[in-house]
Amino acid sequence: MTSDSDDAATATLERLLSTRWSCRAFGPDPVPRTEIERVLDIARRTPSWCNTQPWHVHIASGRRTHELRAALAAALADGPAENADLPFPSSYEGVYRDRRRASGWQLYESLGIEKGDRAASAQQTLRNFDFFDAPHVAIVTTDRDLGTYGAVDCGLFVNNFLLAAHSRGIASIPQAALAAQAPVLREFFDLPDDRLVVVGISFGYADDDHAANGYRTDRQSIADVATFVG
Ligand SMILES: Cc1cc2nc3c(=O)[nH]c(=O)nc-3n(C[C@H](O)[C@H](O)[C@H](O)COP(=O)(O)O)c2cc1C
Repeated sequence: MTSDSDDAATATLERLLSTRWSCRAFGPDPVPRTEIERVLDIARRTPSWCNTQPWHVHIASGRRTHELRAALAAALADGPAENADLPFPSSYEGVYRDRRRASGWQLYESLGIEKGDRAASAQQTLRNFDFFDAPHVAIVTTDRDLGTYGAVDCGLFVNNFLLAAHSRGIASIPQAALAAQAPVLREFFDLPDDRLVVVGISFGYADDDHAANGYRTDRQSIADVATFVG
């Protein structure tokens, strides 16, 4: 039997999941440390295989965020190289290509970037590396020996971090673009060799008036995501 309190919990979860979005323009106000710890306190409840809890986050704030921005800019001066600890997708074909394009066009359309304007889209891609002006960036790492499932566990942690942040009015964006600069992150945070960079998460308070935050992505239907057998 589903109780009224269950219904309220479902409604809250559904609201958080359906209203969260990836923020690509932040205001300058920092998130208080107590609020960041509140988010971490919720996200640390994430399940993992054998309860290994392989995630660790290095969080840059204030001056350190600016320094990391500068370190990334210096590394990117010769063009964005891909140097990720975990393999990136080798290609996007079929529906994946279509969905990737659709979400890209949504962003460009809201920013007024014309299709085919490679200079403007490259410029927007570079915004990843100044964290879209976010005052904080979290780098999520996993343990090398735990392999793919360790990264899966970290993915669950990332989603719970995003949802917990959203529940506190904190905007965020997961960024594989940052993972592509693993050597810079490794040096900046002095990461040990047994830690692999999974993803970065920029976070702060949204600039609600910015065009980059003016659209929402859609999702596939139940029929597309599930096959019922029997
Ligand atoms: C693992 C992961 C990596 C991502 N990397 C990037 C990134 O590097 N740059 C970016 O702008 N968005 C990135 N995103 C955000 C996705 O584009 C976004 O989640 C997706 O388009 C759905 O939109 P929504 O988050 O607004 O619902 C990433 C998301 C995930 C889950």
